[in-house]
Amino acid sequence: MAMMLTALEVADGDRVLEIGAGTGYNAALLAHRLGDDDLVTTVDLDPEITESARRHLAAAGYHPAVVTGDGARGVPGRAPFDRIIATCTLRVVPRAWLAQCRPGGRILMPLATGLVALTVRDAEHAEGRFLHTPAYFVPLRGAERRETEAQGLGGVPQRARGDDLFRFLLALTRGSLDPQEAYALWERENAPLRERYGITVSGERAWAWLDDPEGPYAWPLTG
Ligand SMILES: C[S@@+](CC[C@H](N)C(=O)[O-])C[C@H]1O[C@@H](n2cnc3c(N)ncnc32)[C@H](O)[C@@H]1O
Repeated sequence: MAMMLTALEVADGDRVLEIGAGTGYNAALLAHRLGDDDLVTTVDLDPEITESARRHLAAAGYHPAVVTGDGARGVPGRAPFDRIIATCTLRVVPRAWLAQCRPGGRILMPLATGLVALTVRDAEHAEGRFLHTPAYFVPLRGAERRETEAQGLGGVPQRARGDDLFRFLLALTRGSLDPQEAYALWERENAPLRERYGITVSGERAWAWLDDPEGPYAWPLTG
């Protein structure tokens, strides 16, 4: 969480939206950093969670906006935001976030066991690379989430099966590459590090890529 807050690059006066209030701890750190509770909004799906987050925050002396709702929809009533940080894993970039983020704003979100930092160009476009750091957050619950089917790893050597970076590639390309194709790419490209991958959103299209958004390795992001 500390690394994520650093990577979020919050500046004085930024309006920040957090998806996944949980205990309220991260929202307290954000409110402390910004020195103005009104700049911080955090959202969680369950009223019990938001109620207890509010309590924890108040006990620590912070009163940011704690909203109950589906974070995939953002919090339009509190937009625009300069920064959006998700503390649950997503399969896609919710379009509502782009619309609620100022041009030049930053979205930091867990996706496929990585953390991607997107720069928002406008309500239709965002792009960015993954950080070096792995991330294993609970999945976003609700409409955006679909169960991922188990994949057969037959033909994939044991050393790749247990490799964190191979598992990342598998998760990122799920639905586009089968595990054997992913393994062939992984071998050919010398087990690429996370920061070689990125995400682009352009209008209706969103895709993951290796090295170059317009290069040969591109896979649609599917929920
Ligand atoms: C790892 S916890 C967040 C930790 C939190 N940031 C903290 O400081 O304690 C993930 C949270 O995401 C929430 N969550 C899952 N799906 C959500 C959704 N669709 N909208 C909003 N919150 C969601 C869960 O209820 C859970 O509280």
